[in-house]
Amino acid sequence: MKYALLILPSSNRVYADSSIALTRAEVELFGQALLGGRLGEVEPELIGGVPYVTFGVDGGLSRREVALLSNVSTAYAGRLDRFDDDLITIQKYQGKTNEQFTKLLVNVTLLASEFGGQVLDRKLAVLDPLCGRGTTLNQALMYGWDAAGLDVDLKDFDAYAAFIQTWLKRKRIKHQAQIGPVRRERRVVARRLTITLAAEKGDYKAGLTQQLDVVNADTRQAGEFFGPESFHLVVADAPYGVRHGSRTAAGGSGGSPTRASAAKVLVRSPLDLLSSAVPGWARLLKPGGAVGISWNTFVARREAAAQVLADAGLEVMDYGPYLQLAHRVDQAINRDILVARKVVNTANRGAASAVGAARVAADSDGE
Ligand SMILES: C[S@@+](CC[C@H](N)C(=O)[O-])C[C@H]1O[C@@H](n2cnc3c(N)ncnc32)[C@H](O)[C@@H]1O
Repeated sequence: MKYALLILPSSNRVYADSSIALTRAEVELFGQALLGGRLGEVEPELIGGVPYVTFGVDGGLSRREVALLSNVSTAYAGRLDRFDDDLITIQKYQGKTNEQFTKLLVNVTLLASEFGGQVLDRKLAVLDPLCGRGTTLNQALMYGWDAAGLDVDLKDFDAYAAFIQTWLKRKRIKHQAQIGPVRRERRVVARRLTITLAAEKGDYKAGLTQQLDVVNADTRQAGEFFGPESFHLVVADAPYGVRHGSRTAAGGSGGSPTRASAAKVLVRSPLDLLSSAVPGWARLLKPGGAVGISWNTFVARREAAAQVLADAGLEVMDYGPYLQLAHRVDQAINRDILVARKVVNTANRGAASAVGAARVAADSDGE
């Protein structure tokens, strides 16, 4: 049976020439994780002048598989969507991670975890330990999941806290919010926003709620605020190592985002931050969970970033479609994604690596 996935028109704007390649990689990862080898060749195709990605599936897709597949990041509104999509699109600010890309990052991380096939039946919990003004958190809420975040920047924390509370009120979404300082030995060590919410009033009454939990603190202290093995996924867009020109001496007059990005200046690699933070993030992951990190390859090589994940005891997914996710963002940023999972225990570790090795062998056989 052959299927065609309609590509969102905006994805061409976001990814320039890479939208087809990224969609193909995402569908292939979906096939590997959830279709047990039934997925055929994934190919771009123009149908009536409109871009699609087409593919065959042995035996056809079940309704459940169609529902799961409809959440692909470049496709139209997904099955899991709980809220109006302005939750993710309204906020505009310099340094925002593109929302479509954020969905891709969440999806590929999910597909590397053990939980990809369970999202129609249960709520997952996601941590973005570099959450900025909450694009990942909003995507997680959109999927009906619990969302937690950390960011060291107080301006980002305040802006997100104001945005989400206003948005929930305006949409008349039943919720309860608390915001305030976190004290240890009478010292304020962080600020924290916690919100309990539900898309439907009845769900709220029945206790079928989602939790949003955002902390303004250094991500290297993540373990002080969240318990071990709390999250199914950890998803982060690392600092790009570029300074936005418009707010600095390098940038001149400020103005439009295009001018600002043209004036980006390389500053530093995120590797130091990652090597000190990733071991802590890994402890917060449930066994079977996965970490997905995006970063700028101009300031840190893929091998070096992969080593940081491996050093934290995670199994890096470095084969096939996982190697097809890099794409150009602008002159100063070439973005890539690394995904790694926390193997269930040492006995399973060998099995998991064997699966990885078998896939690598299968990939090279096909070439
Ligand atoms: C690329 S931005 C993420 C943007 C976010 N995804 C969004 O859409 O708003 C990286 C974030 O990492 C944060 N950051 C950098 N170093 C940090 C640290 N040591 N602890 C916590 N956050 C940090 C920055 O403040 C910035 O918000």
